[in-house]
Amino acid sequence: MIGRLNHVAIAVQDLAAATAVYEKTLGAEVTKPIPEPDHGVTVVFINLPNTKIELLEPLGEGSPIAKFLEKNPSGGIHHVCYEVDDIIAARDQLLKEGARVLGDGEPKIGAHGKPVLFLHPKDFLGTLTELEQA
Ligand code: CO
Repeated sequence: MIGRLNHVAIAVQDLAAATAVYEKTLGAEVTKPIPEPDHGVTVVFINLPNTKIELLEPLGEGSPIAKFLEKNPSGGIHHVCYEVDDIIAARDQLLKEGARVLGDGEPKIGAHGKPVLFLHPKDFLGTLTELEQA
């Protein structure tokens, strides 16, 4: 069902400081910050030859990553994202397997303008798992 690793997302308290780590220390190219008020985060992307890293900083009240950062004040891996060919078919198959889809179960448009869904971390080895239609 799952295909390529689309990205690994890392939650951070301070996007400018995190960008500096990737740009200066690791020598990667980092995009300009993109505010996503609908998702409660500001993101930057780091395009690597084989996948992407997303750095997420909380945006506004009640950001979905605020609690994660309370537990992980130095930041940490927040989720992984795999590509699927057909997100509805993937969702329906996962529901049949007993996996839990977060939210109302309907795909939302994600950071790359494509439909995404999130799967409950307790069903996937303690890892919040995002599916993105390729
Ligand atoms: Co993501």
